[in-house]
Amino acid sequence: MSKTKIKYVCSNCGYESLRWIGKCPECESWNSFTEELIEISKRKPAPYKGTIIAKKISEITAESEDRIKTGLHEFDRVLGGGMMPGSVVLIGGDPGIGKSTLIMQASSRIQKTVLYVTGEESEKQIKLRSSRLKIKNENLYVLAETDLNAVISVIRNLKPAAVIIDSIQTTYRSEFDNSAGTVTQIRECTALLMDEAKKNHFCVILIGHVTKEGMIAGPKVLEHIVDTVLQFEGDSHYAFRILRAQKNRFGNTNEIGIFEMREDGLREVKNPSELFLSERDNKASGSVVTTTIEGSRPILLEVQALVTPSSFGYPQRITTGFDQRRLSILLAVLEKRGNYRLSANNVFLNMAGGLKITEPAVDLAVCCSIVSSLQDRQIDPATVVIGEVGLGGEVRSVSQIEKRIQEAAKIGFKRVFIPRNNLKSLSNISTIKIIDVENIFEAITLALE
Ligand SMILES: Nc1ncnc2c1ncn2[C@@H]1O[C@H](COP(=O)(O)OP(=O)(O)O)[C@@H](O)[C@H]1O
Ligand SMILES: [Mg+2]
Repeated sequence: MSKTKIKYVCSNCGYESLRWIGKCPECESWNSFTEELIEISKRKPAPYKGTIIAKKISEITAESEDRIKTGLHEFDRVLGGGMMPGSVVLIGGDPGIGKSTLIMQASSRIQKTVLYVTGEESEKQIKLRSSRLKIKNENLYVLAETDLNAVISVIRNLKPAAVIIDSIQTTYRSEFDNSAGTVTQIRECTALLMDEAKKNHFCVILIGHVTKEGMIAGPKVLEHIVDTVLQFEGDSHYAFRILRAQKNRFGNTNEIGIFEMREDGLREVKNPSELFLSERDNKASGSVVTTTIEGSRPILLEVQALVTPSSFGYPQRITTGFDQRRLSILLAVLEKRGNYRLSANNVFLNMAGGLKITEPAVDLAVCCSIVSSLQDRQIDPATVVIGEVGLGGEVRSVSQIEKRIQEAAKIGFKRVFIPRNNLKSLSNISTIKIIDVENIFEAITLALE
């Protein structure tokens, strides 16, 4: 005995309500409620009648799992060394960012059977993409299907080592009346796939679109069910893409993979610092190189500032890739502690290459680039500047200083400014000149010499 009832479910966090509400009381997202049919079972739970025994852990046999290596080393690295049989991986990202391309290329060199289930594109479109990406893999099977029960029957016959569902939002189970893409469908489809994957030991890769708020559309609850959540991100104006692990039961969540989108597909970027510095103009004032840590890797990037006199009363502060409020704080520090006249100037700040930086370790470089542009004096292009800036103008220590310095030395920079407090955590590095500074004015004076 069961009957159905309509409920409203937040597509972001899974919060349920009997009526539609505009703003979710749980996760505070707006306009996230969708109508769901919910089955209500009237039966009371019955006591379990069968016999079931728990095993001693010593009695369980398990060989170390053979991970499935894909054709993309960056992808394997983010997964923690390849795909784990029996696991479910969710890849989220904006439409058009390159998820289908990524997964197609990743499956191009797998020596075992791979089933690519597409609910968004036709078989022909998949074929056209694979021709563009020059993929020839006899082990790759394509199925254009959205009914999951049909997909499961194909899986049982084909017995693939990996199944790709592109996308989870287009997949549905006919035993539920909800339309595809609703919270219930997404949750139930994932649960069925997980169950099947654990029993039959294949790996599932789910592709999911991201809502404009940056959440994996359809439920955040999905993130809790699956083993691994990867986010594929990037700016559509720039060619590089970052694959980031947000959750990983079988690997380090600090890993990222960097790719460049080209006509013939994604190319792995082995040395990201070179990519981000490739278009640098060495002779411009206002340009300073600094380091950021992305995942577990240091990346060098260029900070660009342009300071111009403001002809109106209210000067502009415009940033790309950097927090505008953070810039206001740094400008206030420069103005108050260093007497730099910035309140009558427009300040434009750019993290070249399109990276978004939230790390305070780039503060000192931002300050140096602003003063460099204000005074139109160039900073020696072989310099890297690292340090967080406090409200008193003091330079504060940053994490993983050694990694940052080594990266700068590797690319061939000649000197690096670091916070004085970081000195004690350094073992000897001889290939690059280290200049330790205590406050921003010391740094600016030395850098602009
Ligand atoms: N014919 C083409 N030539 C060059 N690049 C293309 C071509 N078709 C698609 N792309 C690139 O691939 C991207 C779409 O990739 P896709 O894997 O379909 O994205 P997603 O699956 O995330 O929606 C486009 O944004 C574009 O950068
Ligand atoms: Mg796609």
